[in-house]
This record gives sequence, C-alpha cells and structure tokens, in this order.
Amino acid sequence: MILQTALLALGATLAAAVQPLEVKDNYFINPKTGNRFQIIGVAYQPGGSAGYKPQEGFDPLSRPEHCLRDAALMQVLGVNTIRVYNLSPDLNHDECASIFNAAGMYMVLDVNSPLVGESLQNFATWESYYDTYLNRTFAVVEAFKDYPNTLAFFSGNEVISDIPSGKVVPPYVRAVTRDLKEYISLHSDRPIPVGYSAADVRDVLFDTYNYFQCHEEGDDKDMSHGDLFALNSYSWCGDSDFKKSTFDDLVEGFKESSVPIFYSEYGCNEVTPRIFTEVGTIYGPEMTGVFSGGIVYEYVQEDNNYGLVDVKEDGTAKILPDFYAFRDQVAKLDHKALQSMKPPSGPANKAPVCSPKLIKTKGFANNFTLPVLPPNAPEILKAGVKPKPVGKLVNVDSWKVTFKVTNPDGSTVSDLEVKPLSNDETNQPGTNTVNEGDNPTKTGSSASESSSNAAVAGFGAAGAPALALGAFAFVAGFAL
Ligand SMILES: *[C@@H]1O[C@H](CO)[C@@H](O)[C@H](O)[C@H]1NC(C)=O
Ligand SMILES: *[C@@H]1O[C@H](CO)[C@@H](O)[C@H](O)[C@H]1NC(C)=O
Repeated sequence: MILQTALLALGATLAAAVQPLEVKDNYFINPKTGNRFQIIGVAYQPGGSAGYKPQEGFDPLSRPEHCLRDAALMQVLGVNTIRVYNLSPDLNHDECASIFNAAGMYMVLDVNSPLVGESLQNFATWESYYDTYLNRTFAVVEAFKDYPNTLAFFSGNEVISDIPSGKVVPPYVRAVTRDLKEYISLHSDRPIPVGYSAADVRDVLFDTYNYFQCHEEGDDKDMSHGDLFALNSYSWCGDSDFKKSTFDDLVEGFKESSVPIFYSEYGCNEVTPRIFTEVGTIYGPEMTGVFSGGIVYEYVQEDNNYGLVDVKEDGTAKILPDFYAFRDQVAKLDHKALQSMKPPSGPANKAPVCSPKLIKTKGFANNFTLPVLPPNAPEILKAGVKPKPVGKLVNVDSWKVTFKVTNPDGSTVSDLEVKPLSNDETNQPGTNTVNEGDNPTKTGSSASESSSNAAVAGFGAAGAPALALGAFAFVAGFAL
C-alpha cells in the first residue's frame, strides 16, 4: 500500500515537463524566461546505425528499461539534450520520451534512417524523393510532435559531403525541409524547428549553409529555408585550441547567421584518451555568441570507438573512461550563467537572398528551383498521415535502473536511478551522481599522455578534418 502510494506520487511528478523551446533569430529561446538555451548534448544511437531494427520491434527510444539506464547516466554526465538518428514512427516511444523529459533532456531527432526508402540518397537523389518516403518523414513528425521535449528535427544528415553530391542533393534536402515545415505548420500545435546536419567539409560547408538558409526574394511564404543549421565537426583533436582546431573559422563563417548554429556531432578521437577540452571553448566567450552548443559523439560505444558507455546485448553497461573525462569538463562550466544569457538587443541578422552569386564553389548547385511534391504527397500533407502515430507523456512506474552498470575499474554502480526534475527544469551537473570507483581521470595520467600527443592533434586539425570526417561518415553509414 505504502509502496503503491509512493509510486503514484512519483508518477504524479511526471506531469512536470521541460519547457518547449522556440527559435528566435539565431538563438534557441525559452519563451517563459526569454533566456537563450545552450545545447549540451550527447548522440544516442544504441547499437549504431546497424542496430536500428524496426522489423524486430525496437529502435533507440522504444525500450523503457534501456532508456532509464541511459537517462540516469546522462544525468550524471550533465547533458540536457540527446540526438537520436534512427526512429520508427510505428513503435511506441511514450515511456522513453517521458523518461528523458523527466530527466530534463530535450530530443533532436533525425526523420531519416539508413534503411532503403527511409532517406535521400546522395546519387540520383530524385529516385529517393517519393510519396512513401515523405509519408514516413511526416509520420516521424506525428510520432514526436506532442512531446514537450522534442526540440528539433533534422531533414538530412551529411547527404552532401563533396562537390559531386553538392551538385545534385541541395534542392532535394531543401524540398524535404519545405515539406516537413509545411506539415508541422498544418498539423502541430506548436512550431518545431527543422534544419540540416552538415558534414564539416570546408569545401562545401558554407555553400551548403547559404543554399539552405537563403530566402527567396519577395516570397515571404516560402517555407523551404531551414530554421537552424548544424554541423558534425571533428577538427578539435586532443589538447587543441580555438585557432588550431579551426573552430575560429567556423565562428567567423557563421557570425552573421540568421538561424541557430550548433555542433550536431563533435569529439574527435584521433588522440586518445579524449580529454574534451573543446567543451570549455564551445561554451566559452569565443563561441557562445554565435553557437548554441553541441552534441558530443556518442553515448554508446561502437566499433568506431567514440563511445562513453559500453552497452552489452543483455542490457548491462560498463562506463568508459571518456564518460568521466567528458563529465568533468561539463561540470567546470558555469551553468547558471550559460543558460541565462539574453539575446543581444539590436537588429537580427538577415538571411541571405537566394541567388546563384551566393554559391562560391564551382560545381555546387546554384539553381534554387526545387522539385515539386511527388504525386500523392499533397493529399498526405493536407489530410495528415493515416493511420496517425500519436505520442504522449505517460506515467513511469519506477525510476530505478534494473541493469547492472559498472565503472571503468570494475566496481558496481549502486542505486542508479533517474532523478525526475520539477517543472521547467533541465538537467545540469549535480542533479545525479554515482559512486565512480577509481576513476582514471582522477589520476592525472590522461593529462600527460595527451600533451605528448599535441603534435598529432595539430596535424589532424590543420590537415585532415575533411578526411577524418569522410571516414567517419562511411563508418556510421549515414551518407547513403
Ligand atoms: C504512412 O505512414 C503510416 C505510419 O507509419 C503508415 O501506417 C502508412 O502505411 C503509410 N502510408 C503510406 C502510403 O506509405
Ligand atoms: C533550374 O532548375 C529548373 C528545374 O530543374 C529548370 O527548369 C531551370 O531551367 C533551371 N534554371 C537554370 C538557370 O538552369
């Protein structure tokens, strides 16, 4: 009886929700406080892109006991956002969305997946833009639009990675952005921003930005420009700095952006163990005026070795040393100051006007005529997806993590559970802690190792960001 009352009381706290955020000019804004929001995120891709198996009945947000384990550990990390890549609109995500909401975390969601027919391909793109593809992306919107912690949708991820793809793909991604925005404006109770997640390939990065962000002159109703722009950037390796990492060029390149800019992935692993010193810079005075934070790659360990936690098939998990290294950097930030910045007064940055002159790289698309909707799509757009997936917050019976979780030194993490936050709160360091055993980042060995690798880091940053990124895109398998 007492237990039941306690559970009910806990369930009741689920009415608490994060405040849905809005985009105003080039910032994410909490409309209740008027404060800017900085994304402190982690990419959440359990099983990797190959682990997305909707036909077997699961995706990253469909297994509540897994989400509980990961939300609890992410509370310890201090993050406030997850990015999820591969989602099936036909699975139930209510419990996981409710868990992450209660844990104070927003969700940035890719509408595409690596499966055939579920994303645009970067060759013969016109062959992958058709009715059932669009229907699926709209269904993802339906499935997630009613959760308060849905922060944004990505209409594409790294579909453009070089000049050949830059020649054919841009009109299609811009068309998908248009279609998603129209769908949201017709069927969602609140605006949810839609944008593109770019590969940080400097040859095409700013043309990509300009192509997606420009406004058609004299067409106020045009919905095809992105509401935000994000990039996957791996140019800060090891003990680098603002200049050496070329993050300074990104700030310079995006300083007049009309939409929010953030890293949709970061966390180079050319130098290991990772020490995540970029965190202090991303959330420091050199960057926060232009960037709205970033999403570290990635929560779950895969073959490509970017993970913070090694999750086994049976649900048990081992915390990796990078987990504590990242947590320690996030913990150093002044979160109160960081999340209470006001947007500057004065005129907002103006979007570029669409014109062939805007595109600097020869061979990159400079024609802004977009493909028209495929034959049956106007009806789906107007009437809505049928049958319609519906998402809603639900009560969670227990916040306790049922899987065994161990520290890098093999000690067991005891009493791990999600700490539900109160209304309008987002997660930050200190909301949840664990017994961390003999955490190797405490010993200081990682610091000496990283400085001996500084030369390597410098080379990686100056010479090979595009290369590193290309290899990554291949491994992750998104640039289909
Ligand atoms: C559209 O999406 C819904 C939800 O996933 C699905 O049930 C339906 O079969 C799809 N319709 C078409 C025409 O693809
Ligand atoms: C731009 O593309 C459209 C549609 O493919 C085409 O009709 C038009 O001729 C193109 N414009 C130029 C200047 O190439």
